[in-house]
Amino acid sequence: MRRRTFLELSAAAPLVPLLGCGGGGNDSTGPTPGGGSVPTGAELVELPRLSSSSGNPKLFEGALTAVQAQTQFIPGVNTQVWAYNAQVPGPLIEVNEGDTLRINFVNSLPQDSTIHWHGVPVPPSQDGLPQDPVPPGASRVYQFTLPKGVSGTFWYHPHPHENSAEQVFRGLAGMLIIRGAKDPLAGFEQKNLFISDLRLDAQGAIPANSDQDRLQGREGNHLLVNGREQPRITIRPGSIQRWRIVNATNSRFLRLALANHTLTLVGTDGGLIRQPVPRGEIPLSPAERVEVLVTANQGAGSTHPLLALPYDRQKINVPGPSAQLTVATIAYSNDAPVATPRVPTTLRSISKFGSPVARKQVIFQKNGDQFLVNGKLFDLNRVDLRSNAGVLEEWEVTNLAGMDHPFHIHQGQFQIVSRTKGGATTNESLLAWKDTFNITPAETVRFRMQFPRKGLSVFHCHILEHEAHGMMGVHQIV
Ligand code: C2O
Ligand code: CU
Ligand code: CU
Repeated sequence: MRRRTFLELSAAAPLVPLLGCGGGGNDSTGPTPGGGSVPTGAELVELPRLSSSSGNPKLFEGALTAVQAQTQFIPGVNTQVWAYNAQVPGPLIEVNEGDTLRINFVNSLPQDSTIHWHGVPVPPSQDGLPQDPVPPGASRVYQFTLPKGVSGTFWYHPHPHENSAEQVFRGLAGMLIIRGAKDPLAGFEQKNLFISDLRLDAQGAIPANSDQDRLQGREGNHLLVNGREQPRITIRPGSIQRWRIVNATNSRFLRLALANHTLTLVGTDGGLIRQPVPRGEIPLSPAERVEVLVTANQGAGSTHPLLALPYDRQKINVPGPSAQLTVATIAYSNDAPVATPRVPTTLRSISKFGSPVARKQVIFQKNGDQFLVNGKLFDLNRVDLRSNAGVLEEWEVTNLAGMDHPFHIHQGQFQIVSRTKGGATTNESLLAWKDTFNITPAETVRFRMQFPRKGLSVFHCHILEHEAHGMMGVHQIV
């Protein structure tokens, strides 16, 4: 039966009762050799960092090699992964806006790969597109300068033709932080939460995708944060932590909520928003990022789960919401409370785009088991939409493809303008930089964006199984 849930598979007792267990889609792993399971509850590990080998503070030079490696998610059981520098997740790259990033990439996988810098405005030739594969055994250099004003939380992942979903679920993805010259939140303790999804079979191996995975998008049976399941995040009473959160799963839609706390939203895909906004929950679809502040206003010694609440992403012929998951737990230390610091009321200025000069339309459709963009499957030799460089455009995306799909476009950040569903149009209330948004069935979303760099680019659904099987378009900027 496929009704066993993620939490039942973990060794520790669930911290919260399970709600809404229908149709979670979490494949059961059954017992692993020796009866082992993925340990939970250890302190959150810091992501390993890629260090720069250049002596020049304005040039970050590093090496990333995609390799097959062994790791132990279950103590004593080797699992083969595909990983950058043999680490799952890949190393954290942290740079400053204005810096130049130069990455020497070696592909030691048995198939083509690339590195794509999700959300970062880079020249198309450096963006790791499916049009620019790095064959097995080959290498290349990715080099670009980060413009001023692009600080935020990003990630990097492979983007080869048809194989990005597999390469990411086998472990290839990492976090990229671009620090701003002026960061009003620099004084807060920072935690980076890179959320990925792992499926292990009864032997402790990562199985291939099934037809259902290709249709619905793959979900695992272990949700990981920085490579571990349900880690503990220690917080001092009274203090405020800044969390940068990446949803690096292939297709898990996370409705994040922290029990007994309000999350204060301070940043989105493209960095800080104008003012902090308190939120009871924060939806994070695949590939989206947020920055939140957590104020430790509960008692010393108490613990509180960070939850992914049940969510119905309207899978094809699978009714009902996902099961609730515990993503992590915050644990208050027994230290004396500190005086809670003040949160700045202004984070940064964002000016709202004016009226667009050109318009584009994208329609997601379904034909049998295939998802189409404007009636077609992806063809990397065909240009689907053309934009003039530097011109403000409004894109209208309509989802007639019967389930939630996270829309993503390359070449930087846009501003969402409005959403229409059931005949009602709502203007977007949050002025924010975004590169990915969820779009529910029969919904239309409008956004405005400018494309300063010429070249070929892409836009696609970020359920990576959909991206890999045709739900992508080629975008030429001239
Ligand atoms: Cu996260 Cu086209 O990519
Ligand atoms: Cu991208
Ligand atoms: Cu999709």
